[in-house]
Amino acid sequence: MGKEAILVTGGAGYIGSHTCKALSKAGYLPVVYDNLSTGHAYAVKWGPFVHGDLADKAKLKAAIASFNPVAVLHFAADALVVESMFKPAKYYRNNVAGTLSLLEAMCEANLKALVFSSTCATYGELQFAPMTEAHPQVPINPYGRTKWIAEQMMAEFDTAYGLKTVALRYFNAAGADLDTEIGENHTPESHLIPIAIQTALGMRPQMKIYGTDFPTRDGSAIRDYIHVQDLAFAHVLALQFLLEHKTSDQFNLGTGSGTSVLEIVRAVESFCCKELPVHLESKRAGEPPILTASAEKATRVLGWTPHYSDLPTIIESAWKWHKLLHETSLLLKRLEESKCLAALIS
Ligand SMILES: NC(=O)c1ccc[n+]([C@@H]2O[C@H](COP(=O)([O-])OP(=O)(O)OC[C@H]3O[C@@H](n4cnc5c(N)ncnc54)[C@H](O)[C@@H]3O)[C@@H](O)[C@H]2O)c1
Repeated sequence: MGKEAILVTGGAGYIGSHTCKALSKAGYLPVVYDNLSTGHAYAVKWGPFVHGDLADKAKLKAAIASFNPVAVLHFAADALVVESMFKPAKYYRNNVAGTLSLLEAMCEANLKALVFSSTCATYGELQFAPMTEAHPQVPINPYGRTKWIAEQMMAEFDTAYGLKTVALRYFNAAGADLDTEIGENHTPESHLIPIAIQTALGMRPQMKIYGTDFPTRDGSAIRDYIHVQDLAFAHVLALQFLLEHKTSDQFNLGTGSGTSVLEIVRAVESFCCKELPVHLESKRAGEPPILTASAEKATRVLGWTPHYSDLPTIIESAWKWHKLLHETSLLLKRLEESKCLAALIS
């Protein structure tokens, strides 16, 4: 019997590509559907690739018809909190209308199982810690609101059409594949750990820290960092839960412990034995002071536990990946320069 296919929207992106590797290891065939707006063709290694946009319902339906997937993992989205504050239309169009297009395509193709990339940004300000799935969802930025609306749409599609969804509310994805095959590669990069590492590698003259007057232990914002490989494996478990129980649910994915921005900077400094040039800026709108998860439900119901989410593993795996990326881009630049030189000489 052939492998069961899983349609992975956004599978060329950071978390999606790591999940494709985990799906393949678990015996599935990941079929990536991605418009490459922030993803990379080189990250599609474990199954077929369909170059398409969420908005293109006909193409989605054609992909479903030709690969006959048993479920969809839906990562494709715009995912930058700060950008969403000044480009909300982009976020509503892609994350809400794009998700609607996908849900309609699925229902029309009678495909009724979806695992959704949701986020702790649907909770907004921390009202109690650690946050359980029962924490009020009061998003404080357009990005969080678009993901919250997508969750509401999914609940209504379940009631009306029987489409079952598991929403995974990730906290902060971090680190890279432990074999250094894939990793985070965003331009511009907005995540703290890659920025700290790029600064240490000399790719940036300095890094900025936004906010040192949060009501936290050192004044900088506290986040819950979860290794991308742990996140990826949670998707395999969520998929199996969905296919077996055919019921909709929501799960937080985090570690329950928070690390401050300044603690991350110190950890990168001590890893690379170098002081990082840091510039302190005032805090940005839409950023809550503390976000930490209770992942007790994912452990209890899905049997999930993070294995690689300690800070040293996160930083070392990210360091190896970003160093490789940096060295490869330097090599390509030199190759380009020597080609130009050769053309000038001839
Ligand atoms: N990175 C995090 O810490 C984090 C935290 C919480 C939730 N999330 C969610 O996880 C998902 C993946 O995040 P990521 O960090 O891997 O982002 P990413 O930008 O690396 O990946 C997103 C992928 O979706 C694709 N895409 C975007 N819009 C599309 C469209 N209209 N049609 C087809 N493909 C499209 C992009 O090309 C990219 O490959 C997102 O939904 C994000 O909101 C991420």
